[in-house]
Amino acid sequence: MGNIVSGSSSGGAVGAPPSQVVLVVDFGAQYAQLIARRVRELNVYSEIVSHDLSAADISARRPSGIILSGGPQSVHVEGAPLLDPGIYELGIPILGICYGSQLIAQQLGGQVGRNDQGEYGRTTLSVNRSVPSSLLGPEPEPTQTVWMSHFDGITEVPDGFVACASTPNADVALMESDRRRIWGVQYHPEVRHTPDGMSLLQRFLHDLAGCEPSWTMGSIIDSSIEAIRVQVGDGRAICGLSGGVDSAVAAALVHAAIGHRLTCVYVDTGLMRKDESNQVVDTFQRHQGIELIHVRAGDRFLDRLVGVTEPEAKRKAIGETFIRVFEEASGGIEDARYLVQGTLYPDVIESGTAQAAKIKSHHNVGGLPEDLDFELVEPLRNLFKDEVRQIGTKLGLPDEIVWRQPFPGPGLGVRIIGEITAEKVAVLQEADAIVREEIAAAGLEREIWQAFAVLADIRTVGVMGDERTYAHPVIIRAVTSDDAMTADWARLPYELLERLSNRIINEVDGINRVAYDITSKPPGTIEWE
Ligand code: XMP
Repeated sequence: MGNIVSGSSSGGAVGAPPSQVVLVVDFGAQYAQLIARRVRELNVYSEIVSHDLSAADISARRPSGIILSGGPQSVHVEGAPLLDPGIYELGIPILGICYGSQLIAQQLGGQVGRNDQGEYGRTTLSVNRSVPSSLLGPEPEPTQTVWMSHFDGITEVPDGFVACASTPNADVALMESDRRRIWGVQYHPEVRHTPDGMSLLQRFLHDLAGCEPSWTMGSIIDSSIEAIRVQVGDGRAICGLSGGVDSAVAAALVHAAIGHRLTCVYVDTGLMRKDESNQVVDTFQRHQGIELIHVRAGDRFLDRLVGVTEPEAKRKAIGETFIRVFEEASGGIEDARYLVQGTLYPDVIESGTAQAAKIKSHHNVGGLPEDLDFELVEPLRNLFKDEVRQIGTKLGLPDEIVWRQPFPGPGLGVRIIGEITAEKVAVLQEADAIVREEIAAAGLEREIWQAFAVLADIRTVGVMGDERTYAHPVIIRAVTSDDAMTADWARLPYELLERLSNRIINEVDGINRVAYDITSKPPGTIEWE
């Protein structure tokens, strides 16, 4: 293997594309991702595409159906995203949702008006019984609860369309033209608050667009294994394990494809959670039989971190040391040309769009730089996190790994405020273990995005027994989130908070106070550094 120097190709081994695909056209604000996930939950493969693709581009992809997503804009705003009108003429079944539905109306000659009032949240859909709807099916409930989020509304349907349902503030909540194979809904069938939403999507996909429900976990695993074998041939691959679900599932898939020609490298930075390293080694080496190099590099990381207190400087120090250790460890693996990475579909979509201002130098810290002298194997590149978890389970990975909460690459390093020392790491590991244990015991592990402890570098006065104490506080941080872009502090039950506080103060030496962080993101971030 060469040094980490020159450019490499990206992508490869993502599984043969299924024969049928539904394209979800993105009009912004992450609506498209949820729709694409729901389509896959209905066992149809979906991909997100930009709204500026031409009819020829779309046609070349040969989709079985097209879904136009919602978007944050009004169709009346100058520069509002449009669709190449040629796409409506391709004869491919189209479903417009919210903005997508309004766009269909506007581009095909109907009218979209400004309402006096917007409509946000739950509302009641009234089905127009005199107009049969293929999208609602043969005998729809006359009224249905649906979730709305709009200000504009369709006031006139295009020629050849019929309006099949309304809500108090949307005369045309559902319109369709069977002949043109185009349907539109003002409401959001993809959200859980629209109880009949999934059956509507199912009718569109399976009945109207004729998609086969063939996108299953078994089919994903089979096609990924096949694609990995084609890409790697009889070569050797390396995978850096972080303990997180993505690299774990990627490794398990590649191992299923090429067996002992995969070697995993696990760099133990000494900044991992309590028992985490043992668990990784146990799972991969003992249970999965994967070749694993376990590098115990804790001392080296601590040496490099002496006197480093600024958060970005810590990330840089940890990131650089990680790369050096990884290179040294993997340098002994002769002829490895392939590097396995657990890149997910949302990473691929997000790196294709303009990113918000850089707030923290996240995503390569604890990972590897992009300019590696390897060919990348990215078997999860087409998959959402929930699919990755299902595959992990199917491949026999334990729940503790498959359902592990996200953990930052620099580990506990960014949860110890100020200088990092071995003693502080040990204290935080104990406090963090208690937080995780109690959250799991309360059955909240999967509901809460991340729950952890932070060690502050201040000391506070307390009294324990008859003695005055002067020790560190621990801050508990627990948040709910869908994607870590925004987050809310979790409303943990008081009893749970009380247990956490009692246990941490009683069981962890050097801690005399526990605080709970009630900051959402924004304005806070999830981590403290
Ligand atoms: P913030 O703190 O920015 O975190 O709200 C958002 C998500 O990213 C994780 N995070 C990191 N992940 N390297 C990583 O690989 C990092 O340096 C890093 N910092 C934060 C964080 O745990 C949360 O899930």
